[in-house]
Amino acid sequence: MSRNYYMAGNWKMHMTRSAAAQLAQEMVNQLRDGKHKYLVAPSFTLLETVSAVIEGSNIRLGAQNCAPEEQGAHTGEVSVLQLKDLGVQTIILGHSERRHNYKEDDALINKKVKLALKHGFEVILCIGELLEEREAGKVEEVCERQTVKGLEGVTDLSNVVIAYEPVWAIGTGKTATPQDAEAVHAFVRKVIARLYSEDAASKIIIQYGGSVKPENAAELMAMQNIDGALVGGASLKTESFVPIAKFS
Ligand code: 13P
Repeated sequence: MSRNYYMAGNWKMHMTRSAAAQLAQEMVNQLRDGKHKYLVAPSFTLLETVSAVIEGSNIRLGAQNCAPEEQGAHTGEVSVLQLKDLGVQTIILGHSERRHNYKEDDALINKKVKLALKHGFEVILCIGELLEEREAGKVEEVCERQTVKGLEGVTDLSNVVIAYEPVWAIGTGKTATPQDAEAVHAFVRKVIARLYSEDAASKIIIQYGGSVKPENAAELMAMQNIDGALVGGASLKTESFVPIAKFS
């Protein structure tokens, strides 16, 4: 397979500066000889601290969201210009916690995706179905809609990563079986082939997220269409993230 594995930690709303600096330093030390692509995405307030620690390492700096506008009267929002200023290279967009808890819809996510790409960021676009959507047989319909609408107007996928995160598997300890995840990844790749090209589909990285742990990382990564992981809870400790990141 020509695609490189991409192992990412989404720290969500955890930690304060000293703990974040310590965790980032441990990751730098322990992933120095890692063979894959790596990313950590801390909260906005930790970006500057973590940026200084990982500078010059093989770990990229990610943010967990951005505003849909460049600047202006948007109280409480954080702009792509401010993220760039802190050394952020990648922005996670459309996370299910943003979609479902903060009511971000596909149109808003698409606006953010286009703005982030315009400013040269790599985007990790998260997609994934709710449990009731899975039970109603709507997995493909939901993932296709989120992919198509999230990428509307995007012509070049070279800075786009997709993360399939079934919502029922996030933070619940329930992982999709490797076979179930693989089926969705293969389907999303077909959607990309139809929308773009076979070449774009063969190159795009599709991460899996949802209760990824050291015990299940290797079997998930062994699937043909699973190219990496977006890890939540297990990314908060080197004891769990490093074995995932260095799965074999
Ligand atoms: P968990 O690994 O805690 O299930 O979270 C997954 C996730 O939402 C990563 O973005």
